[in-house]
Amino acid sequence: MGAAFQPAANLWAAIALALGGGVIAAAIVFGWLWQTSDFARGVRSAQAQPVPFSHQHHVSGLGIDCRYCHDTVERAATAGMPPTYTCMTCHSQIWTNARILEPVRQSLAQNKPIVWRRVTDLPDYAYFNHSIHIAKGVGCFSCHGDVAAMPLTWKARTLTMGFCLDCHRDPGPNLRPRDKIFDTTARPRPDPASARTLLAFYHIGSRDLTDCSICHR
Ligand code: HEC
Ligand code: HEC
Ligand code: HEC
Ligand code: HEC
Ligand code: HEC
Repeated sequence: MGAAFQPAANLWAAIALALGGGVIAAAIVFGWLWQTSDFARGVRSAQAQPVPFSHQHHVSGLGIDCRYCHDTVERAATAGMPPTYTCMTCHSQIWTNARILEPVRQSLAQNKPIVWRRVTDLPDYAYFNHSIHIAKGVGCFSCHGDVAAMPLTWKARTLTMGFCLDCHRDPGPNLRPRDKIFDTTARPRPDPASARTLLAFYHIGSRDLTDCSICHR
């Protein structure tokens, strides 16, 4: 009879299996936590862009409204990116020779859009729509953070399913009055009385927002 069939060998095999199982379970848990972590999701790390566009200068400094550049955010699923001529309405007059703006001038001259690197990106199987969130009192701040303070744009939230569901389970405390939707420096007021008032004002509550088919269609 070989050594492997002795009782002691069985015991070692059992221990090895248990440890192996533990390692696999730990790897699965780690992998799960990792892929939803801020680090793996690129949260707070600014993207290098072809032109170092600063929301801080243009929004906080110059007071330009989000909708001037992201003009479909209230009407469509996507917010929209500004075409080059939107930049040139000002930059054909200000900073006309600045090196930093060379890619903007080239884009206009060659009639080729500037290719911005994406900061936020959902997988295709998840459906998202800006217009309904804006119409129902969710401010840009809730999903994008304080964009008006960003010299280069970074992702402020993980945008995982868990993130979406946290609000969908209980949107009240995250809502804001209409005049604060585009103001990323203002914070929502999460007290229960304001939450109830805003839920009623925006007529929210008739649908189960955690239903899978809301976001996976
Ligand atoms: C003068 C034009 C302009 C204004 C005003 C402006 N943006 Fe932008 N925005 C841009 C440009 C250009 C980019 C692409 C470069 C970058 O990511 O910084 C961008 C990118 C973004 C992105 C990242 C998109 C992605 O996923 O890649 C978000 C989010 C955003 N803007 C939100 C806002 C919000 C919120 C406001 C108002 C508080 C605002 N923007 C005002 C021009 C503008
Ligand atoms: C409820 C969350 C949420 C709110 C509120 C929100 N966004 Fe977004 N935004 C997203 C997500 C998610 C994406 C990525 C969409 C994708 O990849 O399909 C995105 C993408 C963008 C982009 C890139 C272009 C695009 O449409 O994909 C811009 C610009 C942007 N948002 C601007 C804004 C502005 C301006 C506001 C406020 C008026 C705003 N967002 C409010 C979640 C939100
Ligand atoms: C409403 C006018 C206006 C629009 C529209 C505008 N800019 Fe500007 N931009 C300015 C002004 C004014 C400055 C100088 C800001 C300062 O020095 O405080 C500036 C500065 C800049 C700078 C220099 C670096 C900095 O942030 O100071 C870059 C790069 C730039 N803009 C890119 C863009 C791009 C790209 C667009 C289009 C998406 C755009 N701008 C749209 C007015 C505008
Ligand atoms: C801060 C709160 C909040 C966050 C975060 C949020 N949502 Fe929503 N979402 C809402 C509210 C409020 C509504 C509107 C509910 C209503 O109409 O009753 C809504 C509605 C929707 C709808 C329904 C659209 C329609 O036309 O039927 C979709 C789809 C959706 N959200 C997807 C997402 C996704 C995907 C994310 C994450 C990237 C997300 N939401 C994050 C608050 C939020
Ligand atoms: C509020 C919007 C929303 C709802 C409701 C929702 N999901 Fe998701 N789901 C998402 C988003 C956004 C992602 C992509 C997250 C990412 O980038 O990893 C996702 C990803 C997933 C994935 C891929 C694996 C993962 O977790 O990242 C599965 C599977 C999934 N959802 C199943 C479901 C099921 C089942 C339900 C119903 C119980 C559901 N979802 C409800 C928004 C939603």
